[in-house]
Amino acid sequence: MKEKVYITTPIYYVNDVPHIGHAYTTIIADTFARFKRLQGHPTYFMTGTDEHGQKIEQAAKARGKTPKEYADEISAKFRTLWDEFEISYDHFIRTTDEEHKLTAQNVFSKMQANGDIYKGEYEGFYCVSCETFFTATQLLDDNCCPDCGRKTSIVKEESYFFRLSKYQDALLKWYKNDELCVIPRGKKNEVVSFVKGGLKDLSITRTSFDWGVKLPASANDPKHVMYVWLDALVNYLTTLGYSRDDALMDFWQNTTHIVGKDILRFHAVYWPAFLMSLNLALPKHVAAHGWWTRNGEKMSKSKGNVIDPREVAKAYGLENFRYFMLREVPFGQDGDFSQKALIERINSELGNGLGNLLNRIIGMSGKYSEFKIDASNVAKFYNAELEEAHAHLKSAIENLEVLATNRYLEELWKVVTLANGVIAKYEPWAMIKEGKTTEANALVALSANLLAKVAVLLSPAMPKTAGKIAEALSFEINERSFKDLVLDNGVQNFISKPTEPLFPRIESELMPSAAPSVNEPQNEKKDENIITIDDFAKIVIKVGEVLECERVEGSEKLLKFTIDLGEQKPRTILSGIAKYYDPSDLIGKQVCVLANLKERTMMKKYVSQGMILSAEDGSLTLLSTQKKVKNGAIVG
Ligand code: MSP
Repeated sequence: MKEKVYITTPIYYVNDVPHIGHAYTTIIADTFARFKRLQGHPTYFMTGTDEHGQKIEQAAKARGKTPKEYADEISAKFRTLWDEFEISYDHFIRTTDEEHKLTAQNVFSKMQANGDIYKGEYEGFYCVSCETFFTATQLLDDNCCPDCGRKTSIVKEESYFFRLSKYQDALLKWYKNDELCVIPRGKKNEVVSFVKGGLKDLSITRTSFDWGVKLPASANDPKHVMYVWLDALVNYLTTLGYSRDDALMDFWQNTTHIVGKDILRFHAVYWPAFLMSLNLALPKHVAAHGWWTRNGEKMSKSKGNVIDPREVAKAYGLENFRYFMLREVPFGQDGDFSQKALIERINSELGNGLGNLLNRIIGMSGKYSEFKIDASNVAKFYNAELEEAHAHLKSAIENLEVLATNRYLEELWKVVTLANGVIAKYEPWAMIKEGKTTEANALVALSANLLAKVAVLLSPAMPKTAGKIAEALSFEINERSFKDLVLDNGVQNFISKPTEPLFPRIESELMPSAAPSVNEPQNEKKDENIITIDDFAKIVIKVGEVLECERVEGSEKLLKFTIDLGEQKPRTILSGIAKYYDPSDLIGKQVCVLANLKERTMMKKYVSQGMILSAEDGSLTLLSTQKKVKNGAIVG
């Protein structure tokens, strides 16, 4: 049996409603969990909410609620959102769960028994917003928090301390010996220099507020509650039933914590030290991603610049949103959210790349072989292409193993481009004409197999889309097909079925732009290409039917069309698309034509009376309407 795998998101504070930053962490973790299941690993994936601490106490008070009432409300919002997003978590933890409180107390007792906890007095600076202690030298001017910039308060109180300093060398050894314990590398370097700078013992209890886990009865010190970060981190053990007889602790041996860069120190320094004190294995990976910003600023409720993930998913589709988040930013770096960038990726990579590939395969197989795709000759004719695809698939897997989701998707799209490219390069329609039916059918089968491989490995990121592709090719995505098609680079037969387009084109922004944040420049330079509605009214685009189409002698590029635009006489139009289409495929099709373009003479003897519109993104596709319309219908 394959190794058991444990995957965690941070538990989210209940002082704020979920935004796309939270969704990002969760979507990465969900993708990783689905990937591990696809590989056949028994996988346990958790998420949840972090409900104790001064910050929550204050937020509840401000709304006239008890902390628990308030936490119930916001925790449910997170859970409902993840359910709507079909996040495949196995357990949703709340730190107010009774079992969790017992586990936190149990952990405290164990660390105390191991001589790692002592009582002293804490004096220093505390940021309520970040729930973090600082020394004077770490602060910004005016005693402000180095992480969020808010004013810190001075605290002086009796406190229990954890002997963090004792673990400094052991931590440095861990970072040195285990290359991938903290990823990506840049973030690991920051952690190492922080620890090399010297670790002070950590205050782990508070007496100035109540809303937290009490110390175990054995401590006999009822005025203390646990520091919220100790309480919070322990959740990862509670989830596996650390204090229960039927614990799932065998999942602990291979743990990946996915966190934002702002909470890396807690997970890569304090947490492993706690684990050493408890004699537990250290995580396999602590993986830190960057922040989503708007106009360069971190998203937060107080700045009024947050984006609601539900709104994005509603407007653009959940799977498109997932793709965008995973693809847009290199793991570990910050990314700015923009609808323009999202639309661009949906239309080009998803629509023109992936969706178009599926359509072409269905179209060609329908035409050449009654939807039956026979792979018997693929390896004979196209071994080099298969090998090339395999190298990309391997690289996609290697990247996903270390959460480099952008590279994983980039590698998959190299296979999409390869598959679209071989169709353009070998022109199966020409092969059919030349009587090379076997080669043409093998080419369709090659493309279908490349698409199927992509779909299998894309399924962790876009489960529904991958499922639709699998259905259109009549195969299943599971551990078996992952092994056969992806790992072993096998090929197989398919039966294709016509299907709805996967990614309808998006023409304009579908969400109102979020309110500008305080620092947003108000007088941005106007785009010089903007036209008015009157300018647009000058353009006449008509739908017309291709009556005839043939290659132009003496030109490799040009096709000569006769097109019925609903006028008295059909028009002659020349178009440089011979590389992309077989003329006979276009006869009877409707296309969009720029109809009031000045006539021009081409190849000295043809007068072209308009321009056929197409979309280009490396490959090329002609524009048409979604259903048949009357010839001459105006596009506007
Ligand atoms: N409660 C702690 C985590 C305890 S884990 C034992 C916490 N909660 S949080 O709700 O503030 O943040 C949770 C996660 O959301 C973090 O990984 C954080 O980085 C992420 N994000 C919050 N805002 C974000 C962005 N604007 N962009 C990307 N992710 C960010 O910290």
